[in-house]
Amino acid sequence: MKAKIVLLPGDGIGPEVVAVALSLLELVANNFGHQFTMEEHLIGGCAIDAVQTPLPKKTLSACLEADAVLLGAVGGPKWDDPRAKVRPEQGLLGLRKGMALFANLRPIQPHPDVLSASPLKAEKLKGVDFVVVRELTGGIYFGEPSKRHQVNGQTQALDTMIYNQYEIERVAHLAFKLAQTRGNKLTSVDKSNVLESSRLWRETVTKVALVYPDVDFDNLLVDAAAMHLLTRPASFDVILTANLFGDILTDEASILTGSLGNLPSASLGDNMNTSGKPRGVFEPIHGSAPDIAGKGIANPVGAILSAALLLRHSLGLEEEANAIENVINQTLAAGYRTADIAKPGQDPLKTDALRKIIESQFIKTNAPIT
Ligand code: IPM
Ligand code: MG
Repeated sequence: MKAKIVLLPGDGIGPEVVAVALSLLELVANNFGHQFTMEEHLIGGCAIDAVQTPLPKKTLSACLEADAVLLGAVGGPKWDDPRAKVRPEQGLLGLRKGMALFANLRPIQPHPDVLSASPLKAEKLKGVDFVVVRELTGGIYFGEPSKRHQVNGQTQALDTMIYNQYEIERVAHLAFKLAQTRGNKLTSVDKSNVLESSRLWRETVTKVALVYPDVDFDNLLVDAAAMHLLTRPASFDVILTANLFGDILTDEASILTGSLGNLPSASLGDNMNTSGKPRGVFEPIHGSAPDIAGKGIANPVGAILSAALLLRHSLGLEEEANAIENVINQTLAAGYRTADIAKPGQDPLKTDALRKIIESQFIKTNAPIT
């Protein structure tokens, strides 16, 4: 097949991990006989430096025309002044909104050979396999007003949490449909004992649940969910939640897999590409990690698995996605590790050394189509 993929390496370790994911996509194209056209664009801090805006028009229009987008990370201390008018993160939020990517899928599945990298006891991690569906274009991330002003001589800052019924319904339908392809279980997480927007969330999701009587459905308050993620992580299948809660809970959940560096994500909407699949943005859930940027030691697994999700969700290439995931599983099972998940006393691999191992394993198991 032919596909156009936009690469947005971004800041910090973003370019380092996107380069590895790209080399895997090139191998997939070569060995499975596809033609992927890659186009690189600016986003985040590097875009602010180059053209004074975190989301140049050119970037957004290229993404809207592409079949899929692979993103690294945005942000860093250089652009972190709390009084700055423009921030790298606005680029990412503008991209999500501009592409109407209302659902963010974050699969959490600890690798059986990496359990010791997590601070949780191995027996708690057995059987953990869930997906968080985070609403991505609404809630407190986008509500207006969001500002700072003077009240009685004091500075006041405010943000607004808004949810419209249709925003809750569309992400809920997507999450219930996803549950039907997995363990048929869905837990909706909110703060309905305090927040009005959460009460609408709970009421709406509970109504949508009636359309999916085969899916075992329950509601959980977000504070309890934060606890249950650690006490009974294996009991979850699909967790559906709002933008801010999903952001927080997925960083927590990443620890079940040993490192934030291992986790991919897919951001999807209902805007279809030339293959008739949702045009998505695929990115590791980790940030730009400025403390290790440029050292060549970043874990590329989250970015590589994001490329696998890109193949599956936006290009419909299930076999190719599985091929990448299998190679990552084999590589981790064989004990190859970057520093973030290395075993005690193990000499960790640098990003490039791990890339070479993953590539040669891929070539060994996926002979080119001749
Ligand atoms: C994430 C990140 C972003 C978010 C930041 C970088 C704006 O933390 O994708 O989880 O808060 O959504
Ligand atoms: Mg986050």
